[in-house]
Amino acid sequence: MGGAIVIIGGTSGIGLELAREYVSQGRAVAISGRSAERAARVAQDLGGGARGIGIDLSEPKEIAGALAPIDDVQHLVITAIDRDSNHIADYDLAAAERLVTLKLVGYPEVVHTLAPRLAADAAIVLFGGLAKERPYPGSTTVSTVNGVVSGLVRTLACELAPVRVNALHPGIVGDSPYWAGKPLDAVIERTPIGRLVRMREVVQATMFLLDCQGMNGVDLFVDGGWMLR
Ligand SMILES: NC(=O)c1ccc[n+]([C@@H]2O[C@H](COP(=O)([O-])OP(=O)(O)OC[C@H]3O[C@@H](n4cnc5c(N)ncnc54)[C@H](OP(=O)(O)O)[C@@H]3O)[C@@H](O)[C@H]2O)c1
Repeated sequence: MGGAIVIIGGTSGIGLELAREYVSQGRAVAISGRSAERAARVAQDLGGGARGIGIDLSEPKEIAGALAPIDDVQHLVITAIDRDSNHIADYDLAAAERLVTLKLVGYPEVVHTLAPRLAADAAIVLFGGLAKERPYPGSTTVSTVNGVVSGLVRTLACELAPVRVNALHPGIVGDSPYWAGKPLDAVIERTPIGRLVRMREVVQATMFLLDCQGMNGVDLFVDGGWMLR
């Protein structure tokens, strides 16, 4: 069926979990990480003919060339992140520039590059996160860039119509590698479902945004109700 599901940031965490699900459904999948070798290795482990490509979104001038091997695209999901830990008191300019470039320039440059290769019924999901609403220590740049994703999907949904573009904003995803071993009891305490959301649930929500033809230009929060308290 059609083109590939392209997952930029598919070598780890939520992107990898999504790739696994699509491969298990027999879909063509392409994943990316910064290193082409690592992406190829992860893709091979996924099986199902998945392809791996190397792209560093914080080097946006390289993106078009890196995406050259991708031809037909059924759906595009961008989950890539290289989190910094930043506070205004000791602002790390280089780290901030890297992350801001990654999400604010890298994400739209990927969309720009792949737009002519999108299927007529393609959909796009861009990942933000609820640090945009609820900061954590060191999240200054993360909170900023995840907020900007909301603006980005609004303009892209208009520019790319009828292709649909949505944002998914997870709360803290308890079984994602980034949070492994970090103290999260206070967040669990505040979450009405009594636990943190899981990667599997974020994958389900991503597939809903990609599949449901009525969803366009929205910010979907997937947080087990965390924002209610
Ligand atoms: N996990 C959570 O609790 C959570 C909460 C809220 C929002 N989110 C959002 O959900 C998305 C996925 O998060 P995650 O925790 O699943 O991510 P993750 O496990 O940290 O994986 C990040 C992915 O981005 C890739 N990447 C890193 N730096 C990159 C760069 N400069 N250019 C291109 N790709 C790069 C990594 O590939 P390589 O390492 O192979 O280069 C990897 O595939 C992110 O956008 C994040 O903001 C996550």
